[in-house]
Amino acid sequence: MNSYIVRGGTPLRGEVTISGSKNAALGVIAAAMVLDVPSRIENIPQVADAEIQLEICESIGAIVHRESPGTVTIDPRPIRTSHIETDKVRNIRASYYLLGVMLGKFGEGSIKMPGGCDLGTRPIDQHIKGFEALGATVTIEHGMIRLSSAQKLHGEHLFLDQGSVGATINIMLAAVRIEGTTIIENAGKEPHIVDVANFLNTMGANIRGAGTDVIRITGTPVLHGDGMYSIIPDQIEAGTFMIAAVLTRGDITVRNIIPHHMEPLSVKLVEMGAHTESGDDWMRVWTDDNAELSAAHFKTMRYPGFPTDLQPQTTVLLATATGTSRMHEDVFDNRFQYVDDLKMMGARVLVADRFAIIEGPCPLTGAHIRAHDLRAGAAMVLAGLYARGETRIDDSQIVERGYEDFIKKLTALGADIREVE
Ligand code: EPZ
Repeated sequence: MNSYIVRGGTPLRGEVTISGSKNAALGVIAAAMVLDVPSRIENIPQVADAEIQLEICESIGAIVHRESPGTVTIDPRPIRTSHIETDKVRNIRASYYLLGVMLGKFGEGSIKMPGGCDLGTRPIDQHIKGFEALGATVTIEHGMIRLSSAQKLHGEHLFLDQGSVGATINIMLAAVRIEGTTIIENAGKEPHIVDVANFLNTMGANIRGAGTDVIRITGTPVLHGDGMYSIIPDQIEAGTFMIAAVLTRGDITVRNIIPHHMEPLSVKLVEMGAHTESGDDWMRVWTDDNAELSAAHFKTMRYPGFPTDLQPQTTVLLATATGTSRMHEDVFDNRFQYVDDLKMMGARVLVADRFAIIEGPCPLTGAHIRAHDLRAGAAMVLAGLYARGETRIDDSQIVERGYEDFIKKLTALGADIREVE
């Protein structure tokens, strides 16, 4: 187990280049397995989750060349089985994307039930609903999900009951090669869903409407395109640094971003008293020295609403704002488990079901806490950067899963942070 040691109180100032989107990379790596030719993918973040997804692909025969940091070539032609036995799938939830790949390509497949961050119940009923609509038979036994299809799979018009990033991507990966047209209503609109669709279209697929509520996929029997793609910047990494700028009362420019993706956050930071300016691929976020921030109310929603993956980081920010703030977590049913650690630092937060009421400002003080999950762990780092004194955050390896060069980037901005065994 590793730990971060953080000493707080220094406003973070400077520039940071944002890496490729972890959640887009996990989908695009799986999508590369749907193709009939090799593909070259750039700007993959150097994080454990992406490496694990690549290793899962290799475990069933794909050939992965790691050409340079962030650039890989994936050749799916040698895939020898549709049954994924490796236990690595238990480390990342997105491993289940390979089910959609196998169903579309081979008409069958199996994989161990996925792992992933503990954010409450994380069912996969919408994934199963989609696969069954396409004609698959889905059974769950001995901890495995098995897909089979007695008859030929066919395109379908289906409605998702629950907005789901994963189900939208998984059904897309299955439908892209199935004869006929599949229409997904109530589809997710997140940037990483659009990235997977754009990658597949670059490789000869016919997917229309990604980024809207209705995605139309016309099955294409053979997929071979020009084989090159670059992953979009990570909206959540960028948002984490933008929040760090406001929290520490500093001044940070995040570079290599898509400013439009940051608007659900930037408009709220300005509402609290921060300042922003942006260009084609950058945004500067700062506050007046020792600024007094205003309390605010947030509700997490599917894109383009406020992202749930920035909820813990924002709750920490609200603890330093003046007044009573409210955070309504409307995507996951148990995503406030980190609040107990935050209260050990002096925060005044009341959690009731999916609501947190935050009283501020609180002069947070350093404590010995832990990273409960990826985004909560990043939020604890932010809390340590604000708090007086030293904060020790155990299980820091959880944070490294989703933030490339996190220590290096923070240190370059003036943070006093190191990682110890
Ligand atoms: C993706 O998870 C992300 N992970 C999560 O980011 C992110 O928090 C989430 O989308 C929401 O934006 C990846 O992309 C790898 P969902 P996913 O299916 O696909 C319910 C991070 O830190 N639901 O959109 O699992 C579900 O329980 C991670 O990078 C069903 O009810 O999220 C949740 O309440 C954490 N049935 C809601 O929908 C289903 O079949 C949204 O889940 C599927 C989901």
